[in-house]
Amino acid sequence: MPAQTPAPPAPAWTIPGYLEARAGRLHIDGADALELVRAHGSPLYVFSEPRIRSNIARLQRAAASVDRPVKFCYASKANSNMAVLTAVREAGIDIEVNSGGELFKALRAGFQPAQIIFNGTSKTGDELEDAVRAEIYSINVDSVYEIELVEAAARRVGKRANITLRLVPEIGTRSHIGLQTALLTSKFGITSTEVPAAFRRALENPDLIRVGGIHIHIGSQTPDVEPFAEAFRAMWEHLVALYRETGHTLEHINLGGGIPVNYLRDRSQADTLPAAERDMLGASLEPSEVLDAALRVARESARATDAEHLLDRVTILLEPGRSVIADAGLVLTTVRNIKRRPETGDVWLLTDAGFNLLLSMTTYKWYYHLISATRADAPPDTGYKVAGPLCDSGDVYFDIEGERRLPDYRMLPADVRPDEVLALLNSGAYSLAQAFPYNGRPLPAAVMVREGGRADLVRRRDTYEDLLAGDIW
Ligand SMILES: Cc1ncc(COP(=O)(O)O)c(C=O)c1O
Repeated sequence: MPAQTPAPPAPAWTIPGYLEARAGRLHIDGADALELVRAHGSPLYVFSEPRIRSNIARLQRAAASVDRPVKFCYASKANSNMAVLTAVREAGIDIEVNSGGELFKALRAGFQPAQIIFNGTSKTGDELEDAVRAEIYSINVDSVYEIELVEAAARRVGKRANITLRLVPEIGTRSHIGLQTALLTSKFGITSTEVPAAFRRALENPDLIRVGGIHIHIGSQTPDVEPFAEAFRAMWEHLVALYRETGHTLEHINLGGGIPVNYLRDRSQADTLPAAERDMLGASLEPSEVLDAALRVARESARATDAEHLLDRVTILLEPGRSVIADAGLVLTTVRNIKRRPETGDVWLLTDAGFNLLLSMTTYKWYYHLISATRADAPPDTGYKVAGPLCDSGDVYFDIEGERRLPDYRMLPADVRPDEVLALLNSGAYSLAQAFPYNGRPLPAAVMVREGGRADLVRRRDTYEDLLAGDIW
């Protein structure tokens, strides 16, 4: 018998059953990326319902591994497309909103009020009234002054408000400074020294306000478990102190979001980035590790302070955003133009997806792994200068400022030509939700791929008429 040649290894970015090269082309849950572009145009957001479900199942498995009830509230700011919200709800978790608009969308997507928590630094009277009227699970209060605003809204509506205090405990993480939210320099929350007085104030009018919990979000893409544990300890100590001082028992401790996602789908392509950046972007932290570490410190402290009966009553909340939707989405983009600079020999690929579709490309110089969808199994052995279509010299996928957050060249197969379709992976979070029609570029369509490979249109492509929709002249 002739010796069989072994199949070449799958590309490093492969996620079996979900993201694969088949017959040389990128497939998403069995749907051919090129067929999607043919049917819906380019650029195109693609989301995967099976991947959303499996990301949520991973969270639920983590919850099942600890001995306290855990409530997951999907951070809808990561992606609040109605089909995404529906998939999240059907997968069985709750929701976190950040504005009256997100509250409206959550209710419209079928979440029950008891499934909704509402964060935000600058809620208006109308937004608070809507939240109180709907009787949501918790309004997370960001300042001592906001307690008065909630009280006033509750009085106007004639219903009692459920609140949680958001704490800012001065805990640093190894993430970008713009993604850290538990430092005193961050705009969020009530400081530890203010907390006792804030609780006393919140407990003044129990007919108008019910104080249910305490909340922290240490930041996003946190690569280590220690800041989560430290945050949980800080909240736990406040919970115990509140009980000892007033007899009031908090029902939940909310550890926020921030569970990281591995954005480096092929580490070898990011070896020019500084080690700290690689650790942050390629973090692999299991949700179960976060929950274990948090509960370990709380249990030790509870035992030492004779407060185990308080821990027995606590539900843990988490607000995962990117860990639900980041790797369940990608952006397909087409090379529209090409040039070779004689002076440098660089080959430039000009695509149709700019930072207006992925704002974090410019605010954080965020790294999204780039592959060819047209030649998904060809070796990415050639460096290109890759840039988007916007009239802005910062609209590039490589390091232009010398900050080394991005590589100098993006690796793709040799001889990329115009019309080749590329894919920016792990771009389901903070992408469509932040997109804006800069340069008169109508926003793209979005599809949701279902189990079995059927792709449903879940956002129609904007038209030129949409560009005029809000203008009055
Ligand atoms: C209060 C709060 N909760 C949850 C999240 C979600 O974070 P991530 O998407 O990193 O999980 C954020 C993100 O900024 C946040 O500010």
